[in-house]
Amino acid sequence: MGAYAAAYERSIADPTRFWGLAARDVRWLVPPDRVLDDGAPPFYRWFTGGELNTCDNALDRHVEEGRGEQPALIYDSPVTGTVRTYSYRELTELVARFAGALRDLGVDRGDRVVIYLPMIPEAVIAMLACARLGAVHSVVFGGFAANELAVRIDDARPKVVVSASCGIEGSRIVPYKPLLDQALELASHKVDRCVIRQRPQLHADLVRPRDTDWDEAVAGAEPAECVPVAATDPLYILYTSGTTGRPKGVVRDNGGHAVALRWSMENVYGVGPGDVFWAASDVGWVVGHSYIVYGPLLTGCTTVLYEGKPVGTPDAGAFWRVAAQHRVKALFTAPTAIRAIKKEDPEGALLAGHDLSSMDTLFLAGERTDPDTYHWATRVLGKPVVDHWWQTESGWPIVANPRGLEPMEIKPGSPSVPVPGYDVRVLGPDGAPVPPGTDGDIVLRLPLPPGNLSTLWQDDERFVESYLTRHPGHYLTGDGGRIDEDGYVWVMGRTDDVINVAGHRLSTGTMEEVIAAHPAVAECAVIGVADELKGQVPRGFVVLKSGVDTDPAALRDELVAMVRGQIGPVAAFKEVAVVPALPKTRSGKILRGVMRGIADGRDVPVPSTIEDPSVLDDLRPILRSG
Ligand code: COA
Ligand code: AMP
Repeated sequence: MGAYAAAYERSIADPTRFWGLAARDVRWLVPPDRVLDDGAPPFYRWFTGGELNTCDNALDRHVEEGRGEQPALIYDSPVTGTVRTYSYRELTELVARFAGALRDLGVDRGDRVVIYLPMIPEAVIAMLACARLGAVHSVVFGGFAANELAVRIDDARPKVVVSASCGIEGSRIVPYKPLLDQALELASHKVDRCVIRQRPQLHADLVRPRDTDWDEAVAGAEPAECVPVAATDPLYILYTSGTTGRPKGVVRDNGGHAVALRWSMENVYGVGPGDVFWAASDVGWVVGHSYIVYGPLLTGCTTVLYEGKPVGTPDAGAFWRVAAQHRVKALFTAPTAIRAIKKEDPEGALLAGHDLSSMDTLFLAGERTDPDTYHWATRVLGKPVVDHWWQTESGWPIVANPRGLEPMEIKPGSPSVPVPGYDVRVLGPDGAPVPPGTDGDIVLRLPLPPGNLSTLWQDDERFVESYLTRHPGHYLTGDGGRIDEDGYVWVMGRTDDVINVAGHRLSTGTMEEVIAAHPAVAECAVIGVADELKGQVPRGFVVLKSGVDTDPAALRDELVAMVRGQIGPVAAFKEVAVVPALPKTRSGKILRGVMRGIADGRDVPVPSTIEDPSVLDDLRPILRSG
């Protein structure tokens, strides 16, 4: 039996022993009494009785163990012309001091802190400072608008918000402070204190005494020590899109998270202490949490924080420049970034002159790696290109080619095999397992391994209803697909109304809520349609209220502006069509799946429950013309 098969079998047959052994790589202040507490299904807790501090494991312990002078973080920002390296010692000092500043602002163990920052070192420092205090951070992606920020502030109820004067998107300066001020106006939860990082590119006006300048806040602060927390205490909340407009607050604990991420670095990504790891994502997404910040630092790696784009900063050779300059061993990005590079530099000419001999592997996730992208990247790089599948809820890979454990055969289009700890199954509509090669709901048999979400923030009921009810005893991933005869998983797309736009997970439900509020709109549907660069883009279809006579182009502009203003530019909502009617079932449900299928050029059967088939016939040419 190979190393992968053996590890997988052990993890499923005896998870307690498997994860108990993995937990030895974490520094515990109090060792756990139990590895897995399964006394209250469907809720499971890992490492109960244990105490640790995640920041201690990510920073202090490495300094004590002799890595003080090793680079912990390399901030590479082509948009500001900066490359700056922070050693473990320096980063520990900066984090301890910012933790002291937060404590002076009243932040204590269990309090929430919302972080709305661009890709600057302060984002990493703020996250780790929260972890140091046992406070719970909730990072909000910078591409979201004020309204989305306000919704998250109201749910997390933070004591402090940490933000910056601006972000930089390519050559464009994006003011953050007006968005924050607007969000704080919109939110019903009142935030007493904000810390604002003033960037040289744009000065923000501070609202005193609520706002404090970052530098002032740290100037008077004493460094804070790590606060011991329970393994089961929350480390962070990360909001993600669900089917409805209300985002889901995924809660990650401290103990299981540290154990799982530490294990994944060596076994999935094949990197260890001292190696350089680069996840070209954003700290606002789960990839950024797990593999820009926590995974690499828990492992004693050097992590790269890149403030730039795959193209345009300055060109499509940017990724290769960064990987070569910092001797990156594993690069992780989204397929859309590779497609963007391929589009600008189809022959990979910009690889010339960049020594990528340090690089072992290119890891891709966030959306399915289409075979074209896989073949292109493999050809130009001459390195293994590894697709792997996971989601905000899992926090680390569910299905992957575990390069560190045992490199497996690559089947383009499949993220490969279930990672140890994950009992992946495919169930049919009746809840029964389907034969190999047959599509169904991809589910994970409970208990989920450590590091997965423990619940939704203050909403156990929604957690159970969203994930654990459809197939009792299993976690519903929301993705559909199949497992082939060799045990390879093929993830074919979401079975709900979540879409993936340039690797960003978005809810069409939220977009529909925004559009439906327009006075001219009677009803609407937003679907995700295939896009060559971004994987999917949203397309809106609106039916006007009777008697409304409006210029479709003007309406389109208004709706696009509304979505951009209320959800954010990241929604990339640009296409709207006015249609006479939407196809519905007799019970009034809009047939979004059928619309999506037609728009993508698939042969979709028209359901027998359709109320009026002629509506679909009228819509067909519009859907196909996108
Ligand atoms: N702050 C403010 N605005 C932001 C933002 C941020 N942090 N991130 C994105 N935006 C804006 C962009 O400027 C763009 O605005 P525009 O419509 O005015 O041009 C919009 O949101 C859409 O951004 P994006 O999806 O990034 O598209 P793009 O056209 O700028 O770039 C790619 C296309 C493919 C280069 C880019 O999407 C990319 O690098 N994707 C990688 C995705 C990724 O890392 N995903 C994380 C999962 S691994
Ligand atoms: P997020 O929670 O933002 O990480 O998005 C998770 C969703 O992205 C998954 O549920 C999938 O729909 C999709 N996804 C992520 N990685 C992959 C992949 N490698 N293959 C197919 N879909 C993916």
